[in-house]
Amino acid sequence: MHAVITGANDGIGLETAKGLAKLGYNQTWLCRNLVKANNASREILLDFPSLRINIIQVNLASLASVKEAGLQVIALDQRVDVLLCNAGGTFSQYALSEDGVEMTMVVNYLSHFLLCHLLLDHLNPKARIVHVSSKANLKGKLSLEELKQCTAESDPKYYIMAAYRRSKLANVVYTKHSAELWSSREITVNCLHPGVVKTKIGHKSDRKLHQYAWALLSNLQGISVEEGAKTSIYLASNPSIASITGQYFDACTIAKANPISDDRTIQETLYSWSMGRIEKFM
Ligand SMILES: NC(=O)c1ccc[n+]([C@@H]2O[C@H](COP(=O)([O-])OP(=O)(O)OC[C@H]3O[C@@H](n4cnc5c(N)ncnc54)[C@H](OP(=O)(O)O)[C@@H]3O)[C@@H](O)[C@H]2O)c1
Repeated sequence: MHAVITGANDGIGLETAKGLAKLGYNQTWLCRNLVKANNASREILLDFPSLRINIIQVNLASLASVKEAGLQVIALDQRVDVLLCNAGGTFSQYALSEDGVEMTMVVNYLSHFLLCHLLLDHLNPKARIVHVSSKANLKGKLSLEELKQCTAESDPKYYIMAAYRRSKLANVVYTKHSAELWSSREITVNCLHPGVVKTKIGHKSDRKLHQYAWALLSNLQGISVEEGAKTSIYLASNPSIASITGQYFDACTIAKANPISDDRTIQETLYSWSMGRIEKFM
């Protein structure tokens, strides 16, 4: 079995990689920091020397980099059983990526949209696509107006959590829509909230205030990475959910996502907006 994981060198992604290694999955990690990735993979390979872990560098903020990484995965010629779209982050200030899209939306959502489309024909039958969303989706807003805002030169009303919620709602909307689109392909697409997990995600913000807020929240409410990786590992590997698709999970159980994610007009709007941004990379 072969799992492709974004952001596997740290936090929930790394813990999920360890869990999948225990289950015998060969892996391909798509990471931006090769030193961290090599060190982390070396530790896993000490415990599981017969496994193969390929490491491919990617900057998910750049669609050209995602395309290059996708081509490198294809060139490995190892079909994919699990595509775990895990990497993510928060951005304290409004900024556009080199492709002219708001950074949170690109890193957390659009890069993974492109990756899924690049690898779609390289998935094994019964493959699982898993998107790591967040409970933040429940308070997210998504509409044509919101999407137009994602490509505007500036956003005077920009707020770090609103951008994060929007990107995490996009993960859920895309999960539900693509599960249906690809229902004849014998693959599943699901998404999840991992819990509030004590990782460094909030320490990577570029404002001290946001770092303190995350330190407080994660120390007061956070669960361990071992706990936080459980739902990802479950969705990637548990036989009991092999045919469940288009669902949002919390604590290894199907949960209610933001009702916007069931709105077909929003699903189609997000899909065609996303296609418009990635088509030159397909
Ligand atoms: N922690 C929580 O409480 C929580 C709650 C709900 C959802 N989530 C979601 O869980 C996922 C994992 O987050 P985490 O908490 O484990 O955070 P984390 O420890 O910061 O790990 C995030 C991973 O994503 C990678 N990444 C970020 N930006 C990237 C980019 N531009 N290109 C390539 N890789 C990039 C990071 O790489 P570097 O190591 O180079 O930074 C890291 O490997 C995210 O999608 C997050 O939104 C987390």
